[in-house]
Amino acid sequence: MIKKCLFPAAGYGTRFLPATKAMPKEMLPVLTKPLIQYGVEEAMEAGCDVMAIITGRGKRAITDHFDISYELEHQIQGSSKEEMLSEIRNILDKCTFTYTRQNEMKGLGDAIYKGNVLVGFANPFAVILADDLCYNSDGPGVLKQMVDLYSKYKCCIVATMEVPHDEVHKYGVIEGREIEDGVFMVDNMVEKPKTEDAPSNLAVIGRYILTPDIFDVIKETKPGKNGELQITDALCEQAKKGMVIAYKFKGKRFDCGSVDGFVEATNFFYQLERQ
Ligand code: UTP
Repeated sequence: MIKKCLFPAAGYGTRFLPATKAMPKEMLPVLTKPLIQYGVEEAMEAGCDVMAIITGRGKRAITDHFDISYELEHQIQGSSKEEMLSEIRNILDKCTFTYTRQNEMKGLGDAIYKGNVLVGFANPFAVILADDLCYNSDGPGVLKQMVDLYSKYKCCIVATMEVPHDEVHKYGVIEGREIEDGVFMVDNMVEKPKTEDAPSNLAVIGRYILTPDIFDVIKETKPGKNGELQITDALCEQAKKGMVIAYKFKGKRFDCGSVDGFVEATNFFYQLERQ
């Protein structure tokens, strides 16, 4: 049922300047694979075959990446390097890519809202923020875990993890009641709270399952923190009038939007490949 995955990728990636001056943050490679390709593979594993990407100015490399490169393919045809393109070829065989632009950076809520033309209003859809790189060695990926949970609860689901109390100001933070192991009924959500105002240390990371009624809620949501339309505020509203679940996922998450997280991910995947 969840076939479409939205990738908001219109941000400027200022923490990676100058690398992101002319190149999208989502194309930064962890080893030989760009961040967004990890996200697409996670979405495929979860059963999605339509990848809906919200782009902005200077993001053409993403569109080119998920396309055939005739010249290059011709050049390396028959050589040992051909194998290096097998994963991306498999993606192109199995998935459809759609794009729309967010002309102005008005926040993640606005970027997701812009996605309505791509994901439609008929079915729930997934959202992946490609700069949050997730990996689970002991079972299904994070999005697949959430899709499985959706079949039980049939409502919006956000992925969460415990973070140190002095880091809650970097995240949307939830207040909720645990209804089964690792599953919380959300009562409240706060975007980037001060440590003393945070309702918990359960932070929302970049994986969501959203039901299409979220678009009406976003439309009514006013700009919040930093003057941006925050998806946290829309989901808080949704939790109050309906139901939102927070899920403490199994696996690891690397904040590849920050230099520290990016280096950590690179080291982790390098060690993994060496094993
Ligand atoms: P971030 O705030 O982490 O990304 O947004 P950023 O703004 O690109 O990075 P910095 O802080 O300047 O380094 C989280 C995700 O939401 C998307 C971003 O592309 C990123 O994947 N986003 C955010 C949008 O698509 N549009 C927006 O208006 C805001």
